Amino acid sequence: MSVDVVVGGFWGDEGKGKIISHLVNKRKATIVARGGVGPNAGHTIVVDGVEYKLRMIPSGIGGKFVRKLLIGPGVLVNPEVFLEEIEKTNMRGKAFLDHQCGVINASHREIDRCDPHLSKKVGTTGSGSGPANEERVRRKLKLAKEIAELKPFLTDVPGEIHGGIANGEPILLEGTQATYLSLFHGTYPYVTTKDVTASSICADVGIGPTVVTDVTLVFKAYVTRVGEGFLPEELTEEETIKRGWTEYGTVTKRLRRAAPFNVELAKRSIQLNSATKIALTKIDILFPADQGNTEFDKLSEGAKEWLTSKEKEIGMPFTFIGTGPADVEIIDREG
Ligand code: GTP
Ligand code: IMP
Ligand code: MG
Repeated sequence: MSVDVVVGGFWGDEGKGKIISHLVNKRKATIVARGGVGPNAGHTIVVDGVEYKLRMIPSGIGGKFVRKLLIGPGVLVNPEVFLEEIEKTNMRGKAFLDHQCGVINASHREIDRCDPHLSKKVGTTGSGSGPANEERVRRKLKLAKEIAELKPFLTDVPGEIHGGIANGEPILLEGTQATYLSLFHGTYPYVTTKDVTASSICADVGIGPTVVTDVTLVFKAYVTRVGEGFLPEELTEEETIKRGWTEYGTVTKRLRRAAPFNVELAKRSIQLNSATKIALTKIDILFPADQGNTEFDKLSEGAKEWLTSKEKEIGMPFTFIGTGPADVEIIDREG
């Protein structure tokens, strides 16, 4: 039995989806459950050469042993996005959501996009997540169990997970957003609408901290941020392009702002999540010759030096190192 929680270490888009796609088969996970805010997230995964952009369904779709993909009651659901993804991924019969997931409607999206404080000052994703969470706090938000189209997909997510734990099955919990987007620990007010550190991901799906085996914190080899707010050592757009660090938001298509890897932020993030393992993605963007490499010893000298010096500074090893977008493009030093 193992319960692994995967969370983002900076401002999101570290490549959590890709790390999940690797771990799901390595752990032989039978259940993958998603926590976090809702469809404001976008995980891009590449499974068997096919790219999927997922906003609702957990990134474990390529898991060979997976019997259930679950969305916890703490997560908001956009029914249209969920139903579309069910068809796109062919996961009917495998993907379910909790009766108590909050439901986002068109008016939440409209407020998110038209309110200048949200759309301009904070720079939200416009997905309606914030206004829906606001309504949930007022205890007026509709829940998934009240929506006819969602009926075939409803389940008791905490019940499913605890059933799996009792059977000794390996379970993966997928976080979305990331540490510094947390409403409590992030760079307020430029944050999302709830806490998104490891403890909250557990709460979102209905488990307590004592059953967690590992918290894997995902960092990228550089830092990106979409929306407004503090980003230490932010590069100009020109410099970002020059370094090849240009990325566009999966949900919003906005150019992600970029900065070099930040040791101080990484160290604090390790504490806030009580991380037991670190995954570092996109080393191939800093060192293109290393794309697709699966062995640490075969990395270029430059990459090895960079990784070793950062490990020393943050005080933890990089157990997983991403060398490309595909689930197999990874160095796994866990043994
Ligand atoms: P959020 O929950 O929205 O924060 O998403 P995320 O952490 O899953 O990341 P997202 O998919 O938005 O962005 C990561 C991007 O990097 C995707 O396009 C991935 O395919 C890609 N990616 C992940 N790992 C690697 C890697 O090691 N190398 C390269 N080149 N690309 C990677
Ligand atoms: P909201 O969560 O849509 O309200 O947006 C609040 C802030 O969080 C904005 O800066 C968004 O760009 C950011 N954000 C929310 N979800 C994600 C994510 O999954 N990846 C990256 N940034 C996100
Ligand atoms: Mg993303």
